[in-house]
Amino acid sequence: MDDFLASPDFEFGQRSLSRPSATLGILASGSGSNFETIVDAADGGILDDCRIAGLVCNEPDAACLQRARRLDVPHRVIDHRDFPDRTDFDTEVVDQLTSWSVDWVIMAGWMRIVTPAFIEAFHRRILNIHPSLLPSFPGAHAVADALEAGVRMTGCTVHIVTEDVDDGPIVAQAAVPVRSDDDVDSLQQRIHRAEHAIFPRAIAATIEAGGTPVE
Ligand code: GRF
Repeated sequence: MDDFLASPDFEFGQRSLSRPSATLGILASGSGSNFETIVDAADGGILDDCRIAGLVCNEPDAACLQRARRLDVPHRVIDHRDFPDRTDFDTEVVDQLTSWSVDWVIMAGWMRIVTPAFIEAFHRRILNIHPSLLPSFPGAHAVADALEAGVRMTGCTVHIVTEDVDDGPIVAQAAVPVRSDDDVDSLQQRIHRAEHAIFPRAIAATIEAGGTPVE
């Protein structure tokens, strides 16, 4: 059985994409495997004409920071615990992204709810990846929730970020079959592989489409 099935527009070779030019800012809170995939795609892949301006991470010990050092990507820790509220935190993140001249924001495992002011600052130019087939299983425990529900198929979704959490126009999805012996780790690993396959192409297609859902 295949590990995953990507929505047709995003299967390799099914749709020719131009290589859009844009400056990307990445937000991550954890391991950063999606971040690394995007950096790789900007180095000879589908995002080759994009510039990765930098990574913002809100967790000082997150592994994505080690990846940023290894990959030589500018990075900054902005710890949300240093700010009195979400608005002040988001203002600092937006200021950093603006100072990097970012025109697209890519949430690659950003475990923070963003404020309306943030969304307004980058209106229709924020993409998120979520480890389920939205609108099923929004929230921070999507993989465990899918296992608990007993679904036989889950996956991942790339969507444009709007004010509602894990909502907003869907750009791409990949379906990942659930195996009878899966636990959260094994299922998460296969979802990650699907994410790495669709995320760079979904970013390229959305930039090419100017921030609207891809037809
Ligand atoms: C991914 O599963 C993504 O869908 C979710 O957070 C995880 C980040 O993984 N939002 P990584 O840090 O990119 O490895």
